Amino acid sequence: MRKIIIAGNWKMHKTQAEALEFLQIFKSKLEDTDDSREIVLCAPFTSLSIMSQILHGGQVRLGAQNIHWEKLGAYTGEISGSMLTELGVHYVIVGHSERRQYFSETDETANLRLLSAQRSGLTPILCVGESKSQRDAGETESVIINQIKRGMVDVDQNNIVIAYEPIWAIGTGATCEASEANRVVGLIRQQLNNKDVPIQYGGSVKADNIDELMQESEIDGVLVGGASLDPAGFARIANFK
Ligand code: G3P
Repeated sequence: MRKIIIAGNWKMHKTQAEALEFLQIFKSKLEDTDDSREIVLCAPFTSLSIMSQILHGGQVRLGAQNIHWEKLGAYTGEISGSMLTELGVHYVIVGHSERRQYFSETDETANLRLLSAQRSGLTPILCVGESKSQRDAGETESVIINQIKRGMVDVDQNNIVIAYEPIWAIGTGATCEASEANRVVGLIRQQLNNKDVPIQYGGSVKADNIDELMQESEIDGVLVGGASLDPAGFARIANFK
């Protein structure tokens, strides 16, 4: 039985005060579900400690948005795995297209970060996805397969989540058709030895398309950006039917 993981990626949003406001509303709107879905909030580093104290031991878990591949050292601005586990963080996003676009993340550095996360006892969420021009050129399959192959070197497939996030769907309101997202997620699963790796879809997930996405056979959850910032809206996504 594959885990269902509903994760919010807050990116560079919410101060500590705003994060606390969010949690008050969000927790009140979360419904008890009869399956093993996990709800994850990937907040900025500055709020992880206080959020962890409030969420401790509950249904909602914490994620971070980056991790360095060294245990410690002269890496200004970076964060180590032990700094995250000390805060009660369980997940960490790796290889997000925005890190690839703005911060020179590559498949190779993403792989180093994946391994670092696993060494620290965290579960990494590896993001893969094609650009509009790559899709239009018919390169979606080769791009995704290469990202998986290069990113997953030596990675423990029993402790990872993958998120298929077509770049052209991120922040655009243009969600990938559920059947097409399912097809690509199925292609990703074919590349894996462990067929039970949870694979999410991300890219303009909203309350009005979550139910359709979650009815697809290969999709095990979502990685949500903009719509995860509103507590009531993200609770509706987390409570999908
Ligand atoms: O990591 C998830 C994010 O990239 C998706 O963003 O705003 O399209 O849901 P959004």
